Amino acid sequence: MPTFTPPTIRFGGDYNPDQWPRDVWDDDVRLMNRASVTTVSLPIFSWAKLEPEPGVFNFGWLDDVFATMEAGSIRIDLATATASPPPWMATLFPDTLPVDINGVRLGVGSRQQYSPSSSTFRKLAIRLVRQLADRYGSHPAVESWHISNEYGCHVPMSYDAESVEAFRAWLKNKYATIDALNDAWGTAFWSQAYGDFDQVGAPAAMPTFPNPTQLIDWERFSSDALLGLFLAEKAVIREITPDIPITTNFMGFFRDADYWQWAPHMDYVSDDLYPDPADSDHYIMAAATRDLMRSLGGGRPWILMEQSTSAVNWRPRNAPKPAGMNRAHSLQAVARGADGILYFQWRQAKAGAEKFHASMVPHGGEDTRIFREVTALGSELAAISPNVIGRKVPARVGIVFDWDSWRSLDQEAQPTRIDYVATVLSWYRPLLRRGITVDFVQADGNLSGYDLVIAPVVQVASEAALQGWAQFVAGGGTLLATYQSGILNENLHAYLGGYLGPLRSTMGIRIEEFAPLAAPYDQRHPDPAASTRFPVPGTRIEGQLAGEAGLWQEIVLADDADVVARFADGFAAGQPAVTRRAAGDGGAAWYVATQPSNDLIDSIMARLLDDAGVTTGLFDEPTDQAEAVRRGDMLFVINHADHERDLMVAGQARRLPAYGVEVSALSAGA
Ligand code: GAL
Repeated sequence: MPTFTPPTIRFGGDYNPDQWPRDVWDDDVRLMNRASVTTVSLPIFSWAKLEPEPGVFNFGWLDDVFATMEAGSIRIDLATATASPPPWMATLFPDTLPVDINGVRLGVGSRQQYSPSSSTFRKLAIRLVRQLADRYGSHPAVESWHISNEYGCHVPMSYDAESVEAFRAWLKNKYATIDALNDAWGTAFWSQAYGDFDQVGAPAAMPTFPNPTQLIDWERFSSDALLGLFLAEKAVIREITPDIPITTNFMGFFRDADYWQWAPHMDYVSDDLYPDPADSDHYIMAAATRDLMRSLGGGRPWILMEQSTSAVNWRPRNAPKPAGMNRAHSLQAVARGADGILYFQWRQAKAGAEKFHASMVPHGGEDTRIFREVTALGSELAAISPNVIGRKVPARVGIVFDWDSWRSLDQEAQPTRIDYVATVLSWYRPLLRRGITVDFVQADGNLSGYDLVIAPVVQVASEAALQGWAQFVAGGGTLLATYQSGILNENLHAYLGGYLGPLRSTMGIRIEEFAPLAAPYDQRHPDPAASTRFPVPGTRIEGQLAGEAGLWQEIVLADDADVVARFADGFAAGQPAVTRRAAGDGGAAWYVATQPSNDLIDSIMARLLDDAGVTTGLFDEPTDQAEAVRRGDMLFVINHADHERDLMVAGQARRLPAYGVEVSALSAGA
């Protein structure tokens, strides 16, 4: 497998020269050189121009683009152009179009209008990819492959007949017999037993709650169907250009593609992220997303494939990035493992649905704040590159991130609405505030490298995963699991006898009843800004740890665990809210039966870190609107606040302007 080891931090963006007259291209190269651009991604959305009629290819213009880039010393992240099929495909092969949950076939005129399981689409995509690889695979300007674009962004699943057939084949492969499927899906319930795989369908519109296991299998299948498309393109590319590294751009915390399944197939991980400048907490989700990308790649450097220099165009209100924020976002990504900072897109579109989306070269041209900031960032990245590129980001704390739990918690017929990502972030935040870097880990992943592992609302966990957590504690690790962890196995069947399965004896507790409180917000009308500000207060806990909590209460029986705090009120008044059980050689198993307020999570975290022996964060005191991260021998300190302030890092005061970032050599002992 080729690795991606660029000589310097990559800098550039999506480039769409086919949307501009030829003479603009020369100006593009001049400006790219001014901005220290190393790399452009193309031709992501050019299928209709590359193949104007089925089987008739038109590469002359792209040859010209390649020559122009090569002459300007710009390298190419070669996209396979299969992200948006040309209109002729729908006319000739209407079955390639996706069908939504209500049976409506989606039309032409935007993008991504293909069914992930369409064999015709796949055949036509492969034909184009082979042409591109044959023609440009040995071009000296090419440095990587960019397959498709944001798989599943608009159409993560399709309910067309071919998809249903493919789902049946996937199920046969998974279960082998219809009896095994019936067992796994629990079809004894509501007269759902199937006599044959041919009777099984997609969970399309139906009278009431679909079978939960059918639904999660459908979601797993749909992620696999998209991954199958990626792998089909990859196979052709690998055959023709075995030495050029391959990626596809992920979308951060994206529920419809289980990136733990995808990441092993990437030569390097890449990601697109558009934090909302109007949300003052956006840096928390952004930091976590960077850490997720590094973790998906097993700690290897990754590439930020897309971000915006300023506003996007797809929120109800699209706030610009104030001066400095684009740099702060970029260096945040570098601090957390990125070896490339690229944008959507190079030149702001004149026409089409994205004309109001900021770019590296805005409508106003080069004499603009945005282009000046881009140029300054390009040379800064080149300057810090030798001290940063390829370096590792150390982490001693792991947080379990699990797509199946996310999918299950998002299903209907749950005890209450739980926002999975917001809950995970609520446990990430106190670590970020201390300047402690976190890896995300798979529920059944290898935990041995960590001192502390946190498992927030991992509702779905296999016996093997729960055994792995128990072993982690037995081996001296500190584990914290919250309410709604270890409730269901991978088939979404409940663990009986007090939940937690094989982890129960490690925790020393049983859970007898759930008593949900007011939800943070109605997920049918989510308020993204609320994501890190929940829960709605609903209860208090008291004892060695005391404070406000919300969202959840339950009845916990602490058979063999210390009760650290109890519920002060409500249905569970007087019952354990936080328990701890010492185990193994210095290990500890913590359980938290509610959603603590941010302040309370901070106090819990202080105890946990103490237990785990992780005492030194980079910040002297927990600090909001800021980050301190170590990468290799470099220290990154970021002020996300809109005003100048002093940040106390590793015993030193550092004065940073609004959105300021300081990159310096780490002093000994820090
Ligand atoms: C991404 C996409 C880009 C562009 C961008 C705008 O989802 O990959 O092509 O549309 O969003 O923010």
